[in-house]
Amino acid sequence: MRIGMLTGGGDCPGLNAVIRAVVGKGESQYGDNFLGFLDGWRGVIESATTPLDWDRCRDILTIGGTILGTSRTNPYKVEGGVQKVLAALKANAVDALIAIGGDDTLGVANKLTAEGVSVVGVPKTIDNDLSATEVTFGFHTAVQIATEAIDRLRTTAESHDRVMVCEVMGRHAGWISIYSGIAGGAADILIPEQPFDVAEVCERLKARSVGRRHACVVVVAEGATPKEGSFSVASGELDQFGHVRLGGIGNLLAEEIEHRTGFETRATVLGHIQRGGTPTAFDRVLATRFGIAAIDAVHNGGLGTMVALQAGEIVRVPLNDAVSEPKLVPHEFYEEVAAPLFG
Ligand code: F6P
Repeated sequence: MRIGMLTGGGDCPGLNAVIRAVVGKGESQYGDNFLGFLDGWRGVIESATTPLDWDRCRDILTIGGTILGTSRTNPYKVEGGVQKVLAALKANAVDALIAIGGDDTLGVANKLTAEGVSVVGVPKTIDNDLSATEVTFGFHTAVQIATEAIDRLRTTAESHDRVMVCEVMGRHAGWISIYSGIAGGAADILIPEQPFDVAEVCERLKARSVGRRHACVVVVAEGATPKEGSFSVASGELDQFGHVRLGGIGNLLAEEIEHRTGFETRATVLGHIQRGGTPTAFDRVLATRFGIAAIDAVHNGGLGTMVALQAGEIVRVPLNDAVSEPKLVPHEFYEEVAAPLFG
């Protein structure tokens, strides 16, 4: 078969490991040949392609980012986009498409199945917010990076007796913040799912520093919002999937903490550092398993599905179910595992 592949949405460590596994098994076991579409759905709309074979992919396992490039292009928001996609797949004689992405990219893939396109989805995102899979590759690496940053922030916090606010990614889902915050022993963790009361956060910080230095780290997700809605954090810019670009709550929160507690406070925004660089061993293995499962799905009755991890096993779920609702941090998990250790 002739198989097209694309990576869409924000990049994450492990994308190249998926591409490598798909091409490796596809060539050797099924006799497939491949072409890559560049920069997500943009490359399909514009028929911008690159050849892919084992020679090109053999050594990309450990490399961060994606050799195919990525974008947040939405064919359903581009004039004539869907027709161009269908025409490009025909012109390139593509029998099936493997789309590696998060809810936006796979949402497009799902809609295209109704147009008769043969697609298999692979879930990626550092945000870990896809409900059909226990975990997405890229998440583990992002948590590791954020945890290392928190460890480093803690030592400088202790030297200077400061509160350090560490802003991590996560617009709607607080998985990176809660995992890295727990792993880093944060004094407080603020996530989008739980609007926070800044007065209560400051009270906890004051209480913990009675009779001792107040040095500590507070982890905040970029999408966390205060209950009273007193901070304005959105830049107002929207991408083609309607997401606002965030980044700013960390600095505002640090100012507010300093103002309310009198404790010297600094903010660090980790930003895209969380998405760059080589994947952890866990993500390399998960991405490889997903890639192998995706090419098997193309050949063995799995078109229209997304590969997923459930109870340790790789399974297939209908694309439609895969993108139906986001996976958010449950209130009980926050209250039972994180909140008791604040302060
Ligand atoms: O890919 C997910 C993500 O990393 C989010 O955590 C973050 O809000 C967003 O992408 C940032 O997007 P961009 O790189 O387009 O600014």
